[in-house]
Amino acid sequence: MQVEASRGPIEELDVQALAVAVFKNEKADSGFLKKVDELSGGLVRSALDAEEFSGKEGETAYFHLLGNDKLKARRLLLIGVGESGDYKSATVSQMAGTAVRSLRSKNVKSIAVLPRFSGDARGTAATAVEGAYIALFDPDKYRTVEKEEKKIDRLVVVVEDADAGALQQGVTEGKIVGESVNFTRDLANEPGAYMTPTDMADRAREIASEFGLSVDILDEARMEQEGMGSLLSVARGSDQPAKLIILKYTPTTPPADNKELLAFVGKGVTFDSGGISLKPGENMELMKYDMTGGATVMGAMRAIAQLKPPIPILGVAPCTENLPSGKATKPGDVVKAMTGKTIEIINTDAEGRLILADAIAYAKKLGATTVIDMATLTGAVSIALGDVNAAVLGTDQDLIDEIITAGREVGEKFWQLPLDKEYSKQIRSDIADIKNVGGRKAGTITAAAFLKEFADGLSWAHLDIAGTAWGDEAKPYRSKGPTGIAVRTLLRIVDRASRK
Ligand code: BES
Ligand code: MN
Ligand code: ZN
Repeated sequence: MQVEASRGPIEELDVQALAVAVFKNEKADSGFLKKVDELSGGLVRSALDAEEFSGKEGETAYFHLLGNDKLKARRLLLIGVGESGDYKSATVSQMAGTAVRSLRSKNVKSIAVLPRFSGDARGTAATAVEGAYIALFDPDKYRTVEKEEKKIDRLVVVVEDADAGALQQGVTEGKIVGESVNFTRDLANEPGAYMTPTDMADRAREIASEFGLSVDILDEARMEQEGMGSLLSVARGSDQPAKLIILKYTPTTPPADNKELLAFVGKGVTFDSGGISLKPGENMELMKYDMTGGATVMGAMRAIAQLKPPIPILGVAPCTENLPSGKATKPGDVVKAMTGKTIEIINTDAEGRLILADAIAYAKKLGATTVIDMATLTGAVSIALGDVNAAVLGTDQDLIDEIITAGREVGEKFWQLPLDKEYSKQIRSDIADIKNVGGRKAGTITAAAFLKEFADGLSWAHLDIAGTAWGDEAKPYRSKGPTGIAVRTLLRIVDRASRK
């Protein structure tokens, strides 16, 4: 798909279809909508008068323009974006996404999108383009028969009266972000057999060499040397060797005497069977996406390498399978983490926290001062927050607030759960320093309480994305399957930190 920016006028847009944002209760007799109404021969007014379309968020109305040549485009799609006062950047992304998905299904090849957002032109163009890329991701990569082959060739994002340079820059950024979110989704969507820890490491090397990141992959021998007994205990049951992926972005002119290092750490369990504490068979196939945290880190680093912020960023992804075998770790076993802490394994299915423990400790060894980890960590988070909000917990309230704010700006929701020290009682062990599960109560919180044991001296926050990383249903602006949750939030956090 070729993507361009344009400043209009809409009469001259040489595309098959125009997709225009319309506000709730907007009238067709004034302003820009009046112009669209006139150019379309009164179709806008007719749809509004008939109360077929009111501009409610997500609503659409589609027309063929017959016997009228005031517009070069021959089709018009109106997309409701809700009250003009509530119009947010996140809605721009969804509006553009809805436009491209709906017009693609009608076999339209070239589209101009008019978000009509009053924010800065560069940001508006970036958000619309990113939304379009994300919308066009399809999960059925391995379908060979009756595959939908409709494709959009050209997308034009229109922001009237904008600076042409800013617009072009926005298009470039939006493409980087959208493609990187889809990169993460593609990894998450891959079957476990095609996305082993070794495959994850290969993908990490690929993005490092393509976009310019430094990369280091620790194999099991090096993990052994580092004393990562917690991470290695999860890998023991698998024939696939574990890999610890380290990606680092360094700006060309690093900030003077900078001692801060922001690190992203993501769970990369490429298949989670539960291990000896085997999961029930129902829906187990979904556990291929248990590496989404790691893929999120990789997707964010892929974008960061191209967006080139002025601050250094570290990305860490511990990758392993969690399988049962004669060699697998058993409930009751005690393992020793890199920090020296001993852990009693109560349930081998609580493996994510075990691999993150050593990965967070290693990030700290590499100089990280702030760590945001992300993981499909607990089923309990879906019970608490469903597929709407991801959970955020941590020890640094400013960092947590920053994550929530950044998320709101890009349309990703994070809801804070408490992490009082009382919860840590639930993970006391009779035989070792701690145990890896804290009972039925507050499962998402006790998992975070476990991680907190390894985040000593760090500004730290944890994202539990188990409920939000996979969409069970398609939305008008997104297919079902992997959502790419948190990639955009991480990028926004980097962007905000860069401005400080
Ligand atoms: N990967 C799972 C969590 C998960 C569940 C992710 C459903 C996505 C959808 C994690 O490793 C796990 O198995 N957690 C256990 C922890 C329990 C044994 C304390 C869980 O949530 O049941
Ligand atoms: Mn598990
Ligand atoms: Zn898991």
